[in-house]
Amino acid sequence: MVEAKIAPSMLSSDFANLASEAEQMVSFGADWLHMDIMVQILLGILCSHFVPNLTIGAPVIESLRKHTRAYLDCHLMVTNPLDYVDQLGKAGASGFTFHVEVSKDNWQELVTRIKSKGMRPGVALKPGTPVEEVYPLVEGENSVEMVLVMTVEPGFGGQKFMPDMMDKVRKLREKYPKLDIEVDGGLGPSTIDVAAAAGANCIVAGSSVFGAPEPAQVISLLRTSVNKANKSG
Ligand code: DX5
Ligand code: ZN
Repeated sequence: MVEAKIAPSMLSSDFANLASEAEQMVSFGADWLHMDIMVQILLGILCSHFVPNLTIGAPVIESLRKHTRAYLDCHLMVTNPLDYVDQLGKAGASGFTFHVEVSKDNWQELVTRIKSKGMRPGVALKPGTPVEEVYPLVEGENSVEMVLVMTVEPGFGGQKFMPDMMDKVRKLREKYPKLDIEVDGGLGPSTIDVAAAAGANCIVAGSSVFGAPEPAQVISLLRTSVNKANKSG
C-alpha cells in the first residue's frame, strides 16, 4: 500500500504572496508543495515547440524555505537538470524530479548527485514518451524513488487531463507495487478517480485546488479517492 500525497501546484498560486499561499495550502491539508521550475528557451526545446513560460528558480525556493518546513516537490522542466542540483539542494528543495527525455546519458550521475544533496530523486516523462524508458531508472541500483507521469504537455497549468496516460500508470503500478507514482496536469474532482484507480498515489493539482472556493475540500476529496483505490486495489 502506497501513501497518498496531495501536492498543490504553486504554479497556480499568487507568486507575490508565495509564503502565505504555501502556508495556507499546508493548513488546508497539503502533504507536499509542487514547484514547477521551467526555463523558457530550454523548455521550448524540451517540448519540441516554443512554450513562452518562465517560472521560478533556486532563489525563490530558498526564500520560500525560510517560511515553511513543507516538502518542496520540485519538477524540473529544463534541458540541463544537472546544473540545478547543487543550487536546489542548497536552497532547501526536498524532491528533485528531472525529465527522462533529457537525461538518457547522465541519469546515474544525476541520481547520485541528487541523493548526495539530501534530496529525493524522481523521473518525469512527457505524454509522448513511452513508459518503458523509465524502467531502467526505477530498477537500477542507483534508482529513482518516484515516477511522474505527465498528464498534459508540460508548460502551463489549467490544461485538459489526458486519460490515455493512465496506461502508463497502470503498467508502472503493476510492475512496482510500492513505487511513488505521481500524476501532473488536469487533476481535480472530475479526473481523480481514473488516476487513482490506475494506481497513482501522488497527486499534483494546480487550478482545481487554487480555483476552488474551498481548496481544503478538494484536497480531501483527492486524498479520499487515492485511499479508496488503494484499499480496493
Ligand atoms: C505543467 C505543470 C503542472 C501544472 C499543473 O507543466 O507541470 O504542475 O501546474 O496544473 P493543473 O493542475 O492546473 O493542470
Ligand atoms: Zn509540474
